[in-house]
Amino acid sequence: MRIDIVTIFPEFFDVLDISLLGKARQSGIIELGVHNLRDYTHDRHRTVDDTPYGGGAGMVMKPEPWGEAFDAILEGEVDAKTADGPVLIFPSPAGEQFTQAIARELAEEEHLVFGCGRYEGIDQRVFDHYATKGRVRLLSLGDYVLNGGEVAVMAMIEAVGRLIPGVVGNPQSLVEESHEDGLLEYPSYTKPASWRELEVPPVLLSGNHGAIATWRHEQQVERTRRVRPDLLAQHPDEA
Ligand code: ADE
Repeated sequence: MRIDIVTIFPEFFDVLDISLLGKARQSGIIELGVHNLRDYTHDRHRTVDDTPYGGGAGMVMKPEPWGEAFDAILEGEVDAKTADGPVLIFPSPAGEQFTQAIARELAEEEHLVFGCGRYEGIDQRVFDHYATKGRVRLLSLGDYVLNGGEVAVMAMIEAVGRLIPGVVGNPQSLVEESHEDGLLEYPSYTKPASWRELEVPPVLLSGNHGAIATWRHEQQVERTRRVRPDLLAQHPDEA
């Protein structure tokens, strides 16, 4: 998969050199390009923002640098409008909720291009223009506001990247985790069997795989009911 990121803080993404995603880059599973939005400005101050039309607090990111940056990245792409074209992703608290299901969809793509907004956001015409050229998605991490899109893009790249075959060593570990089956994951234990007078649930020491699977499923349902009843509502057979 090819991933391009446009940001005014390219050094923020240096951390993608480490850990599992760093390895995936070294082995060529993920190819990464990080682009400084200011490289697509033409004034002495490398200006990327301006005051909002209509008034109001804060600054809005100007459309021209975004246009030049995205045109350069998309140059030579197959028609971006086709299903094979890149997906252009803008993290935004005004976007649709980013979920494990969306991470799974994006993990199937060949090219993702992320645009990290700052300040009060990006001029709306950037989204409108590229929506005529390809698939544009505004995605939100959740109902809270970050200072910019960089942290959100890091989270999305980690969630998507680990689903690409070959990135996580043992693919089975992707199956048995929170959100994969619409439930939160069951609690995990390792040795020692007794720690600070807290015991591992005996069923896990029983060697009875059927009983262990039943216990784990019950724990998933109980935990989801307690912490995230909204998820159970989407899982009517467990409610
Ligand atoms: N940018 C600012 N806040 C955000 C959020 N909650 N999700 C995604 N991008 C954001």
